[in-house]
Amino acid sequence: MAMTGNSGRGGFSNKLGFILAAAGSAVGLGNIWKFPFEVADGGGAAFLILYLGFCFILCYPVMVAEITIGRHTNKNPVGAFKALKGGGFTIVGLLGIISGFLILSFYNVVAGWAFGYFLEMVQGNFGIGQEFGSFTANWQRVGFYGLIFMAITAFIVSRGISGGIEKAARFLMPALIIMILGLMFYAFTLPHAGEGLSFYLVPDFSEITFDVVYSALGQAFFSLSLGMGALITYGSYVSKKDNIVSSAAYITLFDVGIAFIAGLMMFPLVAYLSEGDMASISGGPGLIFVTLPGVFESLGPVLGIIIGSVFFLLLSFAALTSTVSLLEVPVAYVVDEWKIKRSAASWLVAGLIFAIGVPSLLSYGASASLSSMNVLPGVEGGVAFLDLVGFIANDTFLPLGGCIISIFVIYKWKRKNFDAEIEEGNPGFKGSFLQKYLNITLSYIAPIVLAIIFLLTFLNLYFGITLL
Ligand code: TRP
Repeated sequence: MAMTGNSGRGGFSNKLGFILAAAGSAVGLGNIWKFPFEVADGGGAAFLILYLGFCFILCYPVMVAEITIGRHTNKNPVGAFKALKGGGFTIVGLLGIISGFLILSFYNVVAGWAFGYFLEMVQGNFGIGQEFGSFTANWQRVGFYGLIFMAITAFIVSRGISGGIEKAARFLMPALIIMILGLMFYAFTLPHAGEGLSFYLVPDFSEITFDVVYSALGQAFFSLSLGMGALITYGSYVSKKDNIVSSAAYITLFDVGIAFIAGLMMFPLVAYLSEGDMASISGGPGLIFVTLPGVFESLGPVLGIIIGSVFFLLLSFAALTSTVSLLEVPVAYVVDEWKIKRSAASWLVAGLIFAIGVPSLLSYGASASLSSMNVLPGVEGGVAFLDLVGFIANDTFLPLGGCIISIFVIYKWKRKNFDAEIEEGNPGFKGSFLQKYLNITLSYIAPIVLAIIFLLTFLNLYFGITLL
């Protein structure tokens, strides 16, 4: 039963439901797959400190801005900017819908890999790690896994907010926490766990370069699902009684906490395989799909199957609550603006996004020309189509979106209206330190930092020009 939302669009049943769903959106492949190795590449705890700083200082205010716009207007990103007489700003809403299409089109492919690996682990096929290349090149098979993943996503979104998205998150998020904590404690008991942990946690400030600062910000932004109106959309289903600033704080903490725990789990596992020789580990995206099956194999057949299956099930669950949020953005748009029924809209949009994802699906081995494209002057060698879409959407559209959203709330919608919406459900907000802090960050810090990052990335990726 939808308890909130006065527009008949449905809503979250309470604050916890919203926090779990939004945290579900935030916690995804980004936390468990990408975060640990970004940490390792960026000097361990040195990266971690930067990442935490960006999350709380810069990203948190943008998150509050998105949720507040959504709750005030009760609309999808495009409808929200229109309702606030955003004029040219409405473009950002549209950019958000397009980003949702693009991100989900390739994210679902990787989610399909995770799901496929779960099925392999259940059968004890640990050799799959060495066959990662031929696994992804088998497009019929991974395409089938992707299709199943998209169908589950569409099913959840078609059931609506409280009966679909929230219900799924209420089951998936606790299950995810139990699995990740279980794996973490297990990993602590393995030989060489200490070496893995010190690799992860001992800071090396000499490794901090501009690239590291930039990737910490990019990771914070993507990980918190910011910049494309996903939280405008989820915010539109939040009750006026809820306290937005505390909800946003919980969501941020949740996301950061899970990313941190993912590292605590991952590095002891990797150290176990390499017998403590962390330098021998090839990191990067292959880590989970190439290295981990070998770790599970070395645990013996029974334990290996259990731990390996739990791990890839965990990864699939994390991905699922994220694909749901990515699909919800364009679906909310179609439902609100084109007045199409939610169930029809969900299946239609999901089908379209799956089709858009076909080149990504083919770009990890199946098609040679899509697997290595020489289109980005800023990237050495060829890029796979899947990564190209990631560069365009994650690295350029999201920071641009976040920058314009910050400018919008303060300068177009106006501070006093923004503050008034936050005050609903939070009477103590007026005159508080937090109020001043949010205003200052959104007025100056977020627009300037995000504009700089956007410009530098844009010049670098598309023109090969490096200014910093
Ligand atoms: N945050 C998710 C992750 O870390 C990905 C994601 C889901 C996302 N929804 C989003 C990223 C919206 C940006 C915008 O994997």
